[in-house]
Amino acid sequence: MPAPEITIIGVGGLGNSLARALSAAEIPIKSIFNRTADKAQDLADELDISISGSFPSNDYELGNLIFITVSDSAINNIAQRLAVILEDFNNNIFVHCSGNESASLLKVLESKGGSIACLHPLQTFTKQSSASDFEDIYFSLQGDTSAFPQLKEIAQKLGADTLEVTEDQKSHLHAAAVMASNYLNTLLDAAVETAAVSDLAPEEAKKALMPLVKTTLQNIEVQSFEEALSGPIKRGDIPTVKHHLDLLKSQPELLTLYRILGLRTVKNARKNQRIDQDTAKKMLNILE
Ligand SMILES: NC(=O)c1ccc[n+]([C@@H]2O[C@H](COP(=O)([O-])OP(=O)(O)OC[C@H]3O[C@@H](n4cnc5c(N)ncnc54)[C@H](OP(=O)(O)O)[C@@H]3O)[C@@H](O)[C@H]2O)c1
Repeated sequence: MPAPEITIIGVGGLGNSLARALSAAEIPIKSIFNRTADKAQDLADELDISISGSFPSNDYELGNLIFITVSDSAINNIAQRLAVILEDFNNNIFVHCSGNESASLLKVLESKGGSIACLHPLQTFTKQSSASDFEDIYFSLQGDTSAFPQLKEIAQKLGADTLEVTEDQKSHLHAAAVMASNYLNTLLDAAVETAAVSDLAPEEAKKALMPLVKTTLQNIEVQSFEEALSGPIKRGDIPTVKHHLDLLKSQPELLTLYRILGLRTVKNARKNQRIDQDTAKKMLNILE
């Protein structure tokens, strides 16, 4: 398969990381663009990319594999603007990386012969991200199957794997990713706040909780959820759960979170009969 000529449009959290990862994997980037052109220019200088600007002005500036890594709400507009550059996009693959949107968001480019796909990295990218953040991750892949071989090859060169999904599977996987990443973040924030209700310094609480979080994740990776579960609900320790509910009485939001996740944890503990039915019932009663 000949090496594609790559264009990236949008160098926010993901586009920036993607450009760095492609460069680190020695996959050449032909051109890079960003609404705020300075950001594209700076990255182009750093990664030695010869063409940059705010938007490609002609087909010469456009590679044949185009990553549209702008905010979800701007993808369609970028596709519309790209569509006027050429009459025939038979040699082009257009890819967006949104978790929520399907490849059909790019259908204006498909109607002019382009292949369209969505390659969504199941990873979180921030200003702290590095090229290695693509290693060992999964990309969900949806859209024209003719684009898949090139995209799978790129994923593989980045050290990542791909998971082919239908539109419906992609949406559900994205909802799951939000829960697994963003809500985990929020949950830990709430956990720190719970500890800090007692006037413990939040930064001390965070430091103390982090090793516990890391070991929990490691255990979940190699064991089933029910096997990896520990704590008062799994032990059927009703007085401890009652005490926690009491402590959080003055914090309605934290109390609700504790209750809802507690109910789900009882369900988890009931798998493999970790707690007996009678204890589970009592536990559900105090949590409801
Ligand atoms: N970050 C992640 O963890 C992550 C993970 C998986 C998938 N994604 C997907 O990656 C894509 C980019 O997300 P991000 O997190 O990298 O976003 P981001 O950091 O917020 O950056 C947004 C990018 O979109 C550009 N943009 C915003 N509105 C625009 C408009 N109206 N016209 C043209 N360009 C516009 C911004 O340009 P300016 O610099 O000029 O503002 C910037 O380059 C999204 O589809 C997102 O769903 C992100």
